[in-house]
Amino acid sequence: MKFFVDTADVAAIRELNDLGMVDGVTTNPSLILKSGRDILEVTKEICDMVSGPVSAEVVATEAKEMIAEGLKLAKIAPNIAIKVPLTWAGLTACKAFASEGHMVNVTLCFSAAQAILAAKAGATFISPFVGRLDDIDLDGLDLIEDIRTIYDNYDFRTQILAASIRNVGHITSCAKIGADVITAPPAVIKAMANHVLTDKGLDQFMKDWAKTGQKIL
Ligand code: E4P
Repeated sequence: MKFFVDTADVAAIRELNDLGMVDGVTTNPSLILKSGRDILEVTKEICDMVSGPVSAEVVATEAKEMIAEGLKLAKIAPNIAIKVPLTWAGLTACKAFASEGHMVNVTLCFSAAQAILAAKAGATFISPFVGRLDDIDLDGLDLIEDIRTIYDNYDFRTQILAASIRNVGHITSCAKIGADVITAPPAVIKAMANHVLTDKGLDQFMKDWAKTGQKIL
């Protein structure tokens, strides 16, 4: 399973990237706002640091404008994945980008039906939003499972990029289901290292070690 980092925070991406934890990055207009940076500048900086796909999202709502924006974003670097919303206009733009050999991430997917359309339109990635479905009392992981089944049934090549990941449990469940990629905030990826028994065990080892009076260095 590939790990994408869901942020436009360059320092946070660098920390994980230095550990080999970053296979790609996803951004969106809200994350660009949070970064306080210019979209073209920050996206370029991320693309220079990370060799995998870096999703940059269009903000137009009509296909023609989306295509113009996407082509501009694609010029930032060869590893740009143009991110479009799952609307009819977004699917139109997706088809146009895919036909020209660009990577496309179709975002804001909330149903299996939408995911089928994205695959038919040639999306490189489909981004179903797990957490936002959970927020409205639906099961976001069920959607990942449904899309996995459908894509496997028909051998669709579009990669399932599980998005809106809010906790470690989401990541392990997506791994069990067979999502191709997860994108998660840096804090959630770092939280994967935590376990209460690790903390407890380490605490005991430190106490016992102190009693030996020894030093390694
Ligand atoms: C996906 O590409 C989105 O950027 C992201 O995962 C949305 O997550 P949120 O629902 O936590 O905002």
